[in-house]
Amino acid sequence: MEIKRYEEKYKDDVRFVCLNSNGPCKLNEKQQHLILTTYCDYFIEQEGNNCFVAVNKDDKAVGYILCAENYDKYKKIFRKEYLTRFRKIEISSRITAGVSSFFQAMYKKNYPAHMHIDILPEYQRLGLGHKLVDALCENLRAKGVKGVCLTMWSGNEKGGSFYKKYGFTLLSKWLITDVFALKF
Ligand SMILES: CC(C)(COP(=O)(O)OP(=O)(O)OC[C@H]1O[C@@H](n2cnc3c(N)ncnc32)[C@H](O)[C@@H]1OP(=O)(O)O)[C@@H](O)C(=O)NCCC(=O)NCCS
Repeated sequence: MEIKRYEEKYKDDVRFVCLNSNGPCKLNEKQQHLILTTYCDYFIEQEGNNCFVAVNKDDKAVGYILCAENYDKYKKIFRKEYLTRFRKIEISSRITAGVSSFFQAMYKKNYPAHMHIDILPEYQRLGLGHKLVDALCENLRAKGVKGVCLTMWSGNEKGGSFYKKYGFTLLSKWLITDVFALKF
């Protein structure tokens, strides 16, 4: 297993991981569109240089860490080019997509970057998560970025345990959302 910087050739693998990191995807087409647009496509299409993949021996990406290094830049492009993709879907989809942004905006001063990490089930708990965060941190530090945050569904025990073990700080808990962050 190897950690590599994201390249276009991994796009389909990354989109697959995004939908299947908690087991085989049971979402309908509309829901898949929402998840991919909100948590995946912006990052790989606009900030591939801030994204890393874990690849297996067949050079297939089985996990990733995706990051937007500056919240204001992300907001501008996401709102204009990605959030608008939900106009033809129901309003609740747009609201879901907006919740994460609310927290990222709140903490952007100390944590201008935000990230998403996912690994296919059969490759979890092998240390890849730690290696992916290491790769991202090194990349962000080299750019002078001060810190990175993320939002997580508070029922995600695996994720919560992982972030605490790595050294992330739990910044806040609000309804069903936990906000974790790491300062450099
Ligand atoms: C959360 C995730 C990214 C962690 O990556 P990973 O490669 O599995 O984690 P690592 O092997 O680097 O670190 C292992 C630690 O992560 C946590 N962890 C990973 N899998 C776990 C599991 N099945 N149950 C409980 N804790 C788990 C534990 O803290 C574990 O330490 P331990 O083995 O000493 O208990 C990965 O498990 C994953 O993709 N999960 C599903 C999707 C997800 O929840 N993404 C985060 C959304 S915010």
